[in-house]
Amino acid sequence: MGYVFIKNANELLTVKGHSEKPARKEAMNDLGIIENGALLIKDEKIEAAGETEFLKEKYSDEIRQAEIIDAKGKVVAPGFVDPHTHLVFAGTRENEYNMRLQGASYMEIMEQGGGIHATTRMTREASFEDLYDQSYRRLDKFLEHGVTTLEAKSGYGMEWEVEKRQLEVAHELDKKHAVDIVHTFMGAHVIPREYKDSPDEFVRIVTDEMLPKVAESNLAEFNDVFCERGVYTPEQSRRILEAGKKYGLLPKIHADEIEPYEGAELAAEVGAVSADHLLKVSDRGLEMMAEQGVVAVLLPGTAFFLMAESANGRKAIDAGVPVALSTDCNPGSSPSVSMPFMLNLASLKMGMSPAEAITSATINAAHAIKRGSTIGSLEPGKKADVVIWDIPHHLQFTYHYGVNHTETVIKNGRIVYSKGDKL
Ligand code: NIG
Ligand code: FE
Repeated sequence: MGYVFIKNANELLTVKGHSEKPARKEAMNDLGIIENGALLIKDEKIEAAGETEFLKEKYSDEIRQAEIIDAKGKVVAPGFVDPHTHLVFAGTRENEYNMRLQGASYMEIMEQGGGIHATTRMTREASFEDLYDQSYRRLDKFLEHGVTTLEAKSGYGMEWEVEKRQLEVAHELDKKHAVDIVHTFMGAHVIPREYKDSPDEFVRIVTDEMLPKVAESNLAEFNDVFCERGVYTPEQSRRILEAGKKYGLLPKIHADEIEPYEGAELAAEVGAVSADHLLKVSDRGLEMMAEQGVVAVLLPGTAFFLMAESANGRKAIDAGVPVALSTDCNPGSSPSVSMPFMLNLASLKMGMSPAEAITSATINAAHAIKRGSTIGSLEPGKKADVVIWDIPHHLQFTYHYGVNHTETVIKNGRIVYSKGDKL
């Protein structure tokens, strides 16, 4: 390995100072920018970040041995962290997309046995290899869009063998692919068709049968539930999240997406790491999340694709909630792998400044998956997960909307993607 020296960046976005706790309020606008910045990487970690001339003098010996990357006229930033994806699934649902364009709603399609049920059928039928190949290709695309770590949920099995297969595929991808993966069990993604008339029996299966197996097999770190009218009630969701806690699984929740349903309140009460979606969150819910430090993971692609009004990012930030952004990559409500597009939407549809969007997709996203101390900013000692953007100023990131500005991706100190090169 050895040294890598990235020099002359027009802007080096360190996003520093929030490794212990996520950035909130005004602090989200401070990207810790160093003009004419440089980064010295030693093996897998960041050794130093600072002004180019200063580092050249201070580390002349190290730089003599280093691989040099000239980032003149470019922006150097932390790799994006995507804290909410349904990475491992089989098949696609463009037929439902077409139905929605003609007026059908996401929930209607699901109630008729499509939606999550449709992907569950396809995922149950898919082999390990098939799931692995489809997901590997998606991960490549994430990397091309500047993502260096993502969270991946199960939830298209809803029977143990298939949930386990999804989690095992994600573990294998974590080993083989450059992108790091953090694992979430989501056995309670929807009420399976088989338990339509006995939802509490399925909740019991999740809490008493599946969760112990998740813990025993060490396949996940987080436990998630879709708390929504017609899916899991707040009371059932609480049972599922509390049961997970007993097995050491940290709670996450899909909350207040379609209707206000006190999901954010529940997240604060159970001490969730994050509450995600929040299109219809109540003021009280935001207040309680701010008090408890629950990260709001906002998913602008989902609102966009479901043609719904976006979550109010501005209001959440002003309420003191730490905000993160994510793709929610999944085949039904957000078939996208593009964090850059999520930042575009955050700025243009959610009242967030470009700087707040960048903070939300880096250090705050790292906190949403409990990785704030190791990734999400460019500070000495952290993993060298770095992206070089082919723009001179961070404001251009969301200004040139719908464009992927990623030029080079460095993961653990190694170049793993370079625009124009084959992977
Ligand atoms: O986060 N809201 C629930 N779950 C996913 C959608 C999954 C699907 O439609 O396949 C989401 O939007
Ligand atoms: Fe989701």
